[in-house]
Amino acid sequence: MLVQRSVTDYRPLLADFEKGNPVTVRFSYPSKDTLLAINSFMAQLLSSRDRIFLLESVITILRECVFNAIKANAKRIYFESTGIDISNHEEYQKMMAEFKSRVIINLSEMEPSMEASRYIAEFTVQKTPGDDLSISVQNNVPLLPEEKARIEQRITAAYRYQDFNEVYEEMYDETEGAGLGIILTIMILKNSGIPANLFKITSDGKVTRSELTIPGQLRPQEVHTKIKDQIIKQISMLPTFPGTTLELIHMCEDPGANMTNIAQKISTDPSLAADILKLANSAGFISSRKIESIADALIRIGLKNLKFMLIAASSRTILEKRFKKFESIWSHCIKTAYYARILSTELGFKQYAEQAFIGGLLHDMGKIVLLSVDLDMTNRIAEIVEQHRIRSTTVIEEISIGISHSTIGKLIAEKWNFAEFIVQSIEFHHTPLRATGEFKSIVGVVYLANLFCGIETKKYEYPYADALILDSIGIKDEAALIALHQKLTSQFKFTE
Ligand SMILES: [Fe+2]
Ligand SMILES: [Fe+2]
Repeated sequence: MLVQRSVTDYRPLLADFEKGNPVTVRFSYPSKDTLLAINSFMAQLLSSRDRIFLLESVITILRECVFNAIKANAKRIYFESTGIDISNHEEYQKMMAEFKSRVIINLSEMEPSMEASRYIAEFTVQKTPGDDLSISVQNNVPLLPEEKARIEQRITAAYRYQDFNEVYEEMYDETEGAGLGIILTIMILKNSGIPANLFKITSDGKVTRSELTIPGQLRPQEVHTKIKDQIIKQISMLPTFPGTTLELIHMCEDPGANMTNIAQKISTDPSLAADILKLANSAGFISSRKIESIADALIRIGLKNLKFMLIAASSRTILEKRFKKFESIWSHCIKTAYYARILSTELGFKQYAEQAFIGGLLHDMGKIVLLSVDLDMTNRIAEIVEQHRIRSTTVIEEISIGISHSTIGKLIAEKWNFAEFIVQSIEFHHTPLRATGEFKSIVGVVYLANLFCGIETKKYEYPYADALILDSIGIKDEAALIALHQKLTSQFKFTE
């Protein structure tokens, strides 16, 4: 049984698991802590097997399974409370409409009656004799014929779809409850290289069981879409940075650089100068009231930050020329960059402050491309992510468009030959456990800065924070995380 959140506590469990023993979590209603424990254990398990890239997919699928099990139990409790026999076909249809409109949307209100009921759910992960991972979620009620038929129909349908876009076109209006979740699951599996037939839902007259096997060998399989091909082509055709900018970047890298020369050169390009000043102002380096000249501003910013601002300003100019303007993305990026810079110092990584800053500035540049290409689709993705309370948009972007904004951003960064730490900050800002070696800290800081910004806009919640990342920076609980966030917001307000 696993119930604790602290990472070190999972080591004995992992050892036990490797011996072939099952690891189980049993619950009547999945509390935040239960879900966190499952996420953290899966993160450790997948990372110990070099499969951390599967984490977001596996967590998204498990969440669906857990809530389907809970909804099935809640349905029984609801029927019992009304005294109506669940096996009565006609009554069932009528009651289901009521159940959906009253209970499903406010599932948490059922928590007390679920805790008091005899219905439970159980998450289990175990090693198979062939060294595959077998994960299951089961609840102690059998499937009704109606439920069984519906699940089978959804699974068959899911195999047909090429990408999630098609799902929307065909059945957007009736997508609720388990239906969409099952299709989502099959699409995610197709995209992660796990054969979709390794996901099964069975019922033996006593229990219902969703089971997923993660094989040692994965298939190289992905979702192919026309939009993805278009995006990759457009990235390959992006122009390089203008000569002046490249020269300036070069000057910033020179240890004997002359600030006056740099300031003069920037002043010859008024729009670049304006961009730098605006950026310096909103990122908290200077306050607009005090700014006298670009030379003064540069001294405050420092050469390293200036270089990164030049990179960010040019990236923005090029992307906005090629794609569309999205003011809100840049203001989000500037805030993330600001947080990332302060966080580095707060967490004892002062030496990475500038790098975390540029990582924050550019982390979402792939979104510009995504939003320009298909705004409708991106809105639908945001809706799904919110409804299903998925930790990040990445997995859903991959199954809908074939590529995520993180990967698009990474491709752009590579196209422009950005340093590896920038590439990783962009690529892994939603999946920080995938960062490698020396870049882990920078990526972790950008991830956390972005998470805080997302919490402020109600996109995320504190429990979404990855336990392994929190553990690596010495944050022991939610209270510490909130305190850290408050430190940042108070400083950010100060500069506005
Ligand atoms: Fe993002
Ligand atoms: Fe972001």
